[in-house]
Amino acid sequence: MSPFLMGVHQVADVALVVRNFALPLGGLLIAAVAFSSVSSRYRNYKLGSLANAVPGLSFLSIMPFFHSRFDFLNWGFHATGQQAYSFNLLWNKVTVVSGESAREAIFTFRGLNLLEAFKFVSGSLPVVRDADHTVLATVQKRLTALQRNASLSDLIPQFLEDIRQHMDRWSSRDTIDPFDEICELGFHTSVRALAAKGMADDYALIQRLRKLYDDLDESTTPATVLFPLFPSPAMIKKVWAAKQVYDVITKAIDEREGSGIRHNDTLQMLLDAKDDRFTIIGFIMGLIIAGARATGVTASWMLIYLGGNPEWRAKAVTEIETLLRNHSSSASEQDPLSTRLSTIPLEAWESEAPVLDSVIREITRIAQPHIAMRLNEGPDVLIDNKLIPHGSYVLYPFSDVHLDPEIYSDPWTFNPGRPEPTSTPLGYVGFGGARSVCAGQRLAKLELKLIVSMYILGYDHGIVKRSDTSKPVTHGAVPRPNWNEPLTCRPADKSDDMFFAQKRTARPF
Ligand code: HEM
Ligand SMILES: *[C@@H]1O[C@H](CO)[C@@H](O)[C@H](O)[C@H]1NC(C)=O
Ligand SMILES: *[C@@H]1O[C@H](CO)[C@@H](O)[C@H](O)[C@H]1NC(C)=O
Ligand SMILES: *[C@@H]1O[C@H](CO)[C@@H](O)[C@H](O)[C@H]1NC(C)=O
Repeated sequence: MSPFLMGVHQVADVALVVRNFALPLGGLLIAAVAFSSVSSRYRNYKLGSLANAVPGLSFLSIMPFFHSRFDFLNWGFHATGQQAYSFNLLWNKVTVVSGESAREAIFTFRGLNLLEAFKFVSGSLPVVRDADHTVLATVQKRLTALQRNASLSDLIPQFLEDIRQHMDRWSSRDTIDPFDEICELGFHTSVRALAAKGMADDYALIQRLRKLYDDLDESTTPATVLFPLFPSPAMIKKVWAAKQVYDVITKAIDEREGSGIRHNDTLQMLLDAKDDRFTIIGFIMGLIIAGARATGVTASWMLIYLGGNPEWRAKAVTEIETLLRNHSSSASEQDPLSTRLSTIPLEAWESEAPVLDSVIREITRIAQPHIAMRLNEGPDVLIDNKLIPHGSYVLYPFSDVHLDPEIYSDPWTFNPGRPEPTSTPLGYVGFGGARSVCAGQRLAKLELKLIVSMYILGYDHGIVKRSDTSKPVTHGAVPRPNWNEPLTCRPADKSDDMFFAQKRTARPF
């Protein structure tokens, strides 16, 4: 799924996931296989040959929309020479917009609905509309409660213990693949924050769940988007993965209720609030989709760029050492790193870590190929003089602002020290803006800071390429985030894959 937003905002999508396991799986396989051979032919379609298809982009010509979305959308601006253009995805009108006033419209207009659009382009399963809005309101409310100071503070030592276990496991290794290991860790801390203690304590289960969420993500194909009711193989894989995740969560709820034993975790908070099962499952399933991958991928890129930039790495290390010195008088340098870091209060992580904050900001600018998408549920509106009819979709690629050289000079260069674009409205939207901001932002930033801090204090690291792990990649040579790869931004050329060359420091974990 999440071809668009790395899975950010699919909360109410849960409703559908919960329902869709009721979809009859059997019997439809034959048709599905027949269809897949057709759709694999579309995949060979080349972007270059699209040039004469605009403005009436045909069904075939929009296939790159699915596999090279960044290039496709840019090409559209280029080919039309306009700030905004439209194409059809079957019977759905989609308008792609750019520029300052369009950006403000996207983030402020009422009537433009994020979730409905997300469900559509992520090729989600059949949706039960009516349940969504109340479920969604409850999910938002609980997510806010979870991010109050006391609850977040409570999570700090738990996160650090999870992080310690992962990083300790890497101790014997000279290299790790960040998109493997760091992403797994980001997944783990997300489950810790959003689900139940029993789930987060079980590493084998974490690995299995992560695989299932990958299946949910990766099985988005043109077929699942355009024909959501059609049981293509990808759709069947998706439904199957959703069903298994559903079973895991149901089991956790049953065990908690059956045992009568309380734990101080998010599941308990949801049960104590007397939310119904549907909402609880929706909360856990949906928010893991929304948050886990985004957190893991962002942490990976933070460490990739810090690994390639010893100067910024050193600044970050100094900042954390200062935090330790100022706040952790009760712990000595011989104490484990996880213990020492857990004595730094939440407030200090949030307000006394400007270097980490600027790194998060720079990474969510440069390595996050989001495309804001909305369904116009309200009356027809004009965006930048372009008509967005009721019932049609609008897309706004974040590249329009985040990679604009007029706003960010030398936009592909990682530079956390660059000035913030104060004169451009919504000049940074890495966690959304105006009326549409990330509901898990506080939690996400805390996780990112803890993961990065443990790693750069616990390890010395640099970047090497998969193709030659003996030669360090320095400064400007860090491969560019690949915006056509919406889940991870991983470079297209496999030999460009970056590994961390690492060595434990003297600090005990
Ligand atoms: C580094 C991690 C993350 C990044 C970069 C990120 C980014 C974003 C962005 C850019 C949006 C707005 C999208 C738009 O306007 O089209 C958004 C929305 C959202 N995010 Fe995040 N997010 C992250 C982590 C999380 C986590 C951990 C959670 C949940 C625990 C979460 C939950 C949500 C939800 C529920 C929304 C939709 C809010 C609404 O209904 O308007 N996100 N996120
Ligand atoms: C349980 O969590 C709350 C905050 O979520 C915290 O204030 C409280 O101290 C915790 N209780 C225990 C026994 O850990
Ligand atoms: C932390 O300690 C340093 C000296 O080590 C001091 O200069 C700085 O003001 C302190 N910061 C805070 C926020 O207490
Ligand atoms: C909660 O944390 C924020 C930021 O760290 C801080 O500014 C605020 O004062 C805290 N609120 C309470 C009630 O402690």
